Amino acid sequence: MDRLRIQGGRPLEGEVVAAGAKNAALPILAAALLTDEPLVLARVPRLKDVETMLRLLQYLGAEHEWRPDGTLWIRMAGEESSTAPYDLVKTMRASVLVLGPLAARRGVARVSLPGGCAIGARPVDLHLHALEALGAEISLDHGYVEARCGRRLRGGIVAFPAVTVTGTENALMAAVLARGTTEIRNAAREPEVVALAGALNAMGAKVEGAGTSLLRVQGVERLHGATLSVIPDRIEVGTYLIAGAITGGKVTVKGCVPDHLDALLAALAACGAGVERGADSVHVWGAGPLRPHDVATAPYPGFPTDLQAQFLALLTQAEGTATVTETIFENRFQHVLELQRMGARIEIAGSVARVHGPTRLQGAEVMSTDLRASACLVLAGLVAEGETVVHRVYHLDRGYEDLEGKIRALGGRISRIRGTV
Ligand code: EPU
Repeated sequence: MDRLRIQGGRPLEGEVVAAGAKNAALPILAAALLTDEPLVLARVPRLKDVETMLRLLQYLGAEHEWRPDGTLWIRMAGEESSTAPYDLVKTMRASVLVLGPLAARRGVARVSLPGGCAIGARPVDLHLHALEALGAEISLDHGYVEARCGRRLRGGIVAFPAVTVTGTENALMAAVLARGTTEIRNAAREPEVVALAGALNAMGAKVEGAGTSLLRVQGVERLHGATLSVIPDRIEVGTYLIAGAITGGKVTVKGCVPDHLDALLAALAACGAGVERGADSVHVWGAGPLRPHDVATAPYPGFPTDLQAQFLALLTQAEGTATVTETIFENRFQHVLELQRMGARIEIAGSVARVHGPTRLQGAEVMSTDLRASACLVLAGLVAEGETVVHRVYHLDRGYEDLEGKIRALGGRISRIRGTV
């Protein structure tokens, strides 16, 4: 398995360009199941999770091609299978995104239950609740959930008891081809949900209210192909901005949507980092000692759980004590144990981590079990004294396009050690 070797201690300076958002690309790819006409997608990030989704869609009958201009062409060519097999679902939980569109288009969907997850239990009960509200019959069969309806789902009221991003996306993809009108209440407001709604509308769907917690969908008989561009990855952008602040450098990320980063930018400013927004760029710089600032994760527009680990790394450098409260996932503090091995002073009590800074972190061999926790360790490595080796880089490859290239472009010292085991 590959590792990353990082020499810490150098401020990052320069510009990088945002990649397309993984969590917007994955549902839009799943939406290809809703039509037999092609989707042509620009700015699809070249990531392991995207490859996994493409493999799954191929298994379900899609053909695709990366074109020389960098766009991805994808079309459903057949209906070989309506099953998302265990092998693919276990490597990527977002495989569950095929449930809604398969049920909507084929009247049947079988998806392996995702099982345990490194950042918490993450059940799919809310996804199933949504499909049931649209008339699907749900059954459990040898580790697979099966959703069945007659010819078409029927519109209805989906009232989520808790906010779920991919659950909202599944409900939306199911509702667009259902007979009649659907209301999705307590819908997720994440930019990625808005992007999916935009993509579905470009394919001929009738979705209103995207970006609010009430989505209204008028079902249509069929959808058609579309040419679309994936929104920039706010979590990737946020990670590089935190890299600028933690190293006391000057980082500009171009090609992003600053408004998608409001909560992070406010928190960075509250920590004393310099923050300047452009129309489609953000500039962050170290403007003296960092101050502690408490954050609590929340659904959008709150502070994103996917930036919690990275921000926690930053707080190890702040002069004083700050708390980080994780409200979305119950087990998303594994990075803390690794940061402690680098010398960080952090206590965890339930869902609250109390970070005492500033600490001179020491380079070490570290490893993590999820994507964002691994990004946190890279950031810690960039500011640590000496060498840090981050193991299990495949987590980072799932969600960061050319991470080493971008950090090197900012002057960071990072290299990949290829491994066979
Ligand atoms: N939940 C349930 N039942 C469900 C669905 C969710 O109890 O049926 C719970 C989850 O266990 C969690 C909470 O609801 O406690 C919120 O989870 P959500 O469903 O919103 O998460 P998700 O849709 O599975 C997406 C992102 C995650 C991101 C979360 C929260 C994608 C593909 N994944 O996951 O991204 O952390 O929303 O914003 O969009 C990542 O990119 O590293 C990542 C983990």
